[in-house]
Parts: sequence; C-alpha cells; structure tokens
Amino acid sequence: MKKILMNPGPVVLSERVRQALLKPDLCHREQEFIELQSKIRTDLLDVYKLDNKDWASILFTGSGTSAMEAMMTSFVPAHGKVLIIENGVYGERLTKIAKIHGINHKIVHHEWGQSLDLKLIEGELNYEKAFSHIAIVHHETTSGRLNDIDAVARLCKQYNSNATILLDAVSSFGAEEIKFHEWNLAACAATANKCLHGVPGTSFVIGNREGISQMSATPARTLYLDLVTYLKNQDANGTPFTQSIQTFYALAEALDELSENGGWQARHKLYWQRMNQVRKGLIENGIKPYMELEESSCVLNAFHLPENVSYDNLHDKLKEAGFIIYAGQGAFAKAMFRISCMGEMTADDVKRFIDTLKSILSK
Ligand SMILES: Cc1ncc(COP(=O)(O)O)c(C=O)c1O
Repeated sequence: MKKILMNPGPVVLSERVRQALLKPDLCHREQEFIELQSKIRTDLLDVYKLDNKDWASILFTGSGTSAMEAMMTSFVPAHGKVLIIENGVYGERLTKIAKIHGINHKIVHHEWGQSLDLKLIEGELNYEKAFSHIAIVHHETTSGRLNDIDAVARLCKQYNSNATILLDAVSSFGAEEIKFHEWNLAACAATANKCLHGVPGTSFVIGNREGISQMSATPARTLYLDLVTYLKNQDANGTPFTQSIQTFYALAEALDELSENGGWQARHKLYWQRMNQVRKGLIENGIKPYMELEESSCVLNAFHLPENVSYDNLHDKLKEAGFIIYAGQGAFAKAMFRISCMGEMTADDVKRFIDTLKSILSK
C-alpha cells in the first residue's frame, strides 16, 4: 500500500532521491566526497541566491536540533546576550540550549500558538541595548504559525541595530521566504529532511561570514557542534569528522530536484495548493483549522480534533489506510492534530486522504 507521510518530516522521498542513497561507497577523505560536500554547500546558498563571499553554509551530521544547538553555541560570544522569543516547543528548545551552555539570555514568553506580542518585544529591546542576538523560530511547528520575522527585524533595527537574528528555519527552509539581508540574519539553522525533501541525518547552518569570523576569538562551547571548526575545514576542502555520506548523496539530489522544479517559490506555491485542498476538505467535514490562513505556514497546519474523536483512534484508522498524521504536542495532544504537505504527494493523494477521513468520521 502507498504510504503518505503527512507528519512534518521525514517526508516521502522522490524515487530519484531514494536511488541516490545507493550511490557508490565513499571515504570522507577522498576528492569525490569533497566535491559532493562543496556542491551541497553551494546549492544551499543558491536556494536563497546568497553570495558565498558574505554567507557560508556549514554542513554536519545530526538532526535539526543539532543545527539549532550549533547555531546558538557558535554565534553568541562569551560576552553576548540573546533575547529568545518563545511561542512553542522549538522556541522553548532554544532556551534549553542557552541554559545548558550557560549562554546569557532573556526570554520573551508567549503561550504556544500565540502570535508575537510586538509591544513586549519592543519593550525588551528598548529597555536593554545589550542584546547581541535575537533567537526566534521562523515556522513554529508546534502550531503551524509562521512568525512575523519582518516585524521583529524592524524593531531590532529601530532599537538595537547591532543585534542580529538567529533563526530556527528547520521547518521553513526551502518553502518559505527567508530575507537574509533585510532581516539582518546572523544565521539560520535547518535540516535536510523537511522542505528540502532529503533524508534525516544531515543538518546545516547558513551563517553570515562576518559573524562567524568574530567568533574565532571566543573559546568553543562544544567540540562536535563548533561551527568555526567546521567552516575552517570545509572552506579548506575537508571535514573535521566523518559525515553521513549517503544522506549527503540524497541531499545533493534533492537540491537538484528543488532547483529543476522552480526553487523555493514553486515549492511554496505547491504546498499551499495542497494545504488549501486539505483545509477546504477538513472544513467541509466540520474540522476547524487552529489558525487563520494568513498566520499559517504553507508547510504544516494544525486542526482542532472533532468532539468525541480521540487522536489515537483517528491516527490508527488513517494509518490503516496509508496516511500518517501528527499529534499535537504537550497540552495540545488532546485538542489538536497536525497535517503537513511536504514530500511526494499528489492532489489525488490529498483527495483520498479527505475521503478516508470523511468515512472514518461518519462511522
Ligand atoms: C522548527 C523546528 N525546529 C527544530 C526541530 C527539531 O528537529 P529534529 O527533530 O530534526 O531535531 C523541529 C522538528 O520538527 C522543528 O520543527
């Protein structure tokens, strides 16, 4: 039976990406690997048309959280201070990382799913000029909210032109607009197995080269996730550690596919086509989206669980029919479920999903 993953990554792979996993075995100290690594680094910058002179993509083996941790620990200097904006699981994870590594920080907390309280953020930036960075999640996957980074970047420029943004773009890179220059990003963290349609195992940070060069003076906070070490090695055509070579093959293929299919803009449009089909179908069956369209990402939307329907039951019945949906996290677990539109999926798959859901609800 065809299986459709509607969870927020890993995604259903295209056949060409799956086949790429079978390419020849390779040693990570050989020229062929260096060429593969360099190609991916260039292609990642190319997704958002970034110049290699100003920006560096740094690749390593790990999941999205490793990219968040590498970004936070490698960009904030010993004397720096981060304003962390929380409105979901992943914003709170940024805080956990700061706490574990003893990074000086202050939190602007919102309830999960809440839109950014710009007055509160403005107050913090106005009160304290010492922030070197603002850390925020772009698409907060907890709720499907696409955070208003335009507004945060504007405030940042207004009150503290020195503070740069550390963006968790793990579930937006490749499908949502990321304004590297306009937002004054120091870096963004992302992963291969979400909107880029690669396999889990490779993550990356795209960082401003000036920001990274300033970090050379600060002692590394971690051995494995130190981006200064990776960048030095990767710019010199090497790698400090063994990389996950097969997932590199897959990511290189996935990036070719993205580019041939029209880049992030085309993927953004395609995800919206699917998501609009999902939203319409669910609304027709009495299931309300958790958030207005304008506030949502194209990647994932959350929906209220219908009354008298348990998530487990809905999940299991849909799974029997080949569709994997995703539970709400924490306190949201009993109240909502989430649907993502990434990966290989046709309009007909989405129609079958809605028909199946309708038939489950009618029983
Ligand atoms: C916004 C965001 N950040 C970070 C992560 C963590 O990624 P991983 O589970 O690959 O470590 C996720 C995972 O869904 C995410 O959606």
